[in-house]
Amino acid sequence: MNNEYAISVNNIGMTYRSRDGHDNTVLDGLDFHVEPGQFVSIVGQSGSGKTTLLKTISGLQQPTAGEILVKGRPISDGLEDIAMVFQSPVLLPWRNNIDNVLLPLEFRGTRTEESRRYAQELLEMVGLGDRATRYSYELSGGMQQRVAICRALVSRPELLLMDEPFGALDAMTRDSMNFEIQRIWQAAGCSVLFVTHSISEAVWLGDRVVIVGGRPGRIVADITIDLPRPRGKEHRFSTVFSDYVTEIESHIGVTTGIS
Ligand SMILES: Nc1ncnc2c1ncn2[C@@H]1O[C@H](COP(=O)(O)OP(=O)(O)OP(=O)(O)O)[C@@H](O)[C@H]1O
Ligand SMILES: [Mg+2]
Repeated sequence: MNNEYAISVNNIGMTYRSRDGHDNTVLDGLDFHVEPGQFVSIVGQSGSGKTTLLKTISGLQQPTAGEILVKGRPISDGLEDIAMVFQSPVLLPWRNNIDNVLLPLEFRGTRTEESRRYAQELLEMVGLGDRATRYSYELSGGMQQRVAICRALVSRPELLLMDEPFGALDAMTRDSMNFEIQRIWQAAGCSVLFVTHSISEAVWLGDRVVIVGGRPGRIVADITIDLPRPRGKEHRFSTVFSDYVTEIESHIGVTTGIS
């Protein structure tokens, strides 16, 4: 039925049970779909369940209600088409950068000479072609995060899940990473779910911005961002852009009582 969607999140709920038996319902009746190749930003207050949502889509945990389909199939069928980038790059310090990028393929036993060439290509694409055989401690935070993004892309995922991937970066590096991720996504053609606390980042990158809010968390609004691509700096200063930001801020305010 939902074969045309990259992801169908069908009415999912998530209730955590504490050790002393108390239930905490974090997500309830959350329902949305992602078209193939779409870039969907997700914003919402801290604790609204964004990471929980990404973990359930990645298959790291099962929702306690509803179901998630990736290309019409339950995620438990296999995770090979999904990759995740976290806020911290988590690179293995004893492996050089290209060997960190190749790690997912080693786990699957599919590392080949061709994949090494592809890993090198990815490192070049993010401006780290000359650092392939260096180690993570020799890189800046932004560079390490770029290696982590290459590691997510090396398996050519159809779905890329990113949980505040630029949260720990300084403003200038974050700006340049925004440009890079737009370029990488357009080249790779995958669908992306991108969680961020920055509303302007969400608008600038997203085809849509989905707002999660309330307790338990549900979708408060799903706003289509009608800005041309590729997006340049000039879009950040347009009236249309600031109107989107204001609209999203008001939705987050509505759910929290903060104006
Ligand atoms: N493994 C877990 N066990 C119990 N409760 C959890 C677990 N993971 C998350 N929670 C609870 O679920 C709620 C949502 O957490 P989640 O990490 O999904 O929020 P978030 O929107 O990602 O927040 P942030 O913006 O701060 O990253 C919180 O109240 C949190 O305490
Ligand atoms: Mg989170």
